[in-house]
Amino acid sequence: MSFGVTMLKPSMKNPATSPELTDDLVERVNEKRAQVLALLQAASKEFNAITFANSYGAEDMVLTDIIAKENLGIEIFSLDTGRLPAETYTLMGEVESAYNTKPVVFFPKHEAVEDYVRTKGINAFYKSIDLRKACCHMRKVEPLQRALAGKLAWVTGMRAEQATTRSSLPTREYDSGNKLEKYNPLSDWTEQEVWAYIRMFDVPYNVLHDQFYPSIGCAPCTRAVAMGEDVRAGRWWWEDPQNKECGLHVKK
Ligand code: ADX
Ligand code: SF4
Repeated sequence: MSFGVTMLKPSMKNPATSPELTDDLVERVNEKRAQVLALLQAASKEFNAITFANSYGAEDMVLTDIIAKENLGIEIFSLDTGRLPAETYTLMGEVESAYNTKPVVFFPKHEAVEDYVRTKGINAFYKSIDLRKACCHMRKVEPLQRALAGKLAWVTGMRAEQATTRSSLPTREYDSGNKLEKYNPLSDWTEQEVWAYIRMFDVPYNVLHDQFYPSIGCAPCTRAVAMGEDVRAGRWWWEDPQNKECGLHVKK
């Protein structure tokens, strides 16, 4: 098993991040933006305690742009696992300047991280699925539970097309695991539409996307994909596709 392999030269730019902005595509993206806006306005009206989970991935930058520019009254938070790529922190700084905000971050509990590292090792998540899931639980799931405490609804940037585990993703559902309403406004968006939005509205984004990282999580568990490969092929690439969820979006 090999880890962290860069499969394509960084000098090649991923063409998927710069789609040709044809009239059809621009029109479709404007229509879909209007639909997302209407959904989020209704959600914010129905639930006064509503929050958006922003991973700073391309989809989440689309939602950040809409939520920030339209003053929807939806809070935005991020889970800082402590293992994010340097490029994600650079983007966080760019978002601060672009939208005149400061990030709301939730960190893992330091005692849990200290114990895991001391007893299992610094990169123990490569050793087994159980150790990987334990790391995701400590660094993402438990902080998510704190981020969602007291909220009535939350918003994610998930798309149905992203993974076999997400193929029937609704735009609105009850999250029985976290016991609140969940919105996935970009459920029916294609990767091309996401990137068209980013280019049309000049939205800041993670430069790793240009280097063939369509889906970005923690640095040690994310790598570049080959052209034509599945968008999540670079996440936990050593595991089967049906295991590739970190626990943030698991239904009970
Ligand atoms: S993951 O479950 O495999 O990590 P993915 O990276 O596809 O998820 O992101 C799906 C959605 O989960 C994002 O659009 C975002 O709403 C939420 N999410 C994932 N990671 C984070 C994070 N670090 N901080 C906040 N939200 C996150
Ligand atoms: Fe840990 Fe990797 Fe999960 Fe990040 S993605 S929390 S480093 S196992």
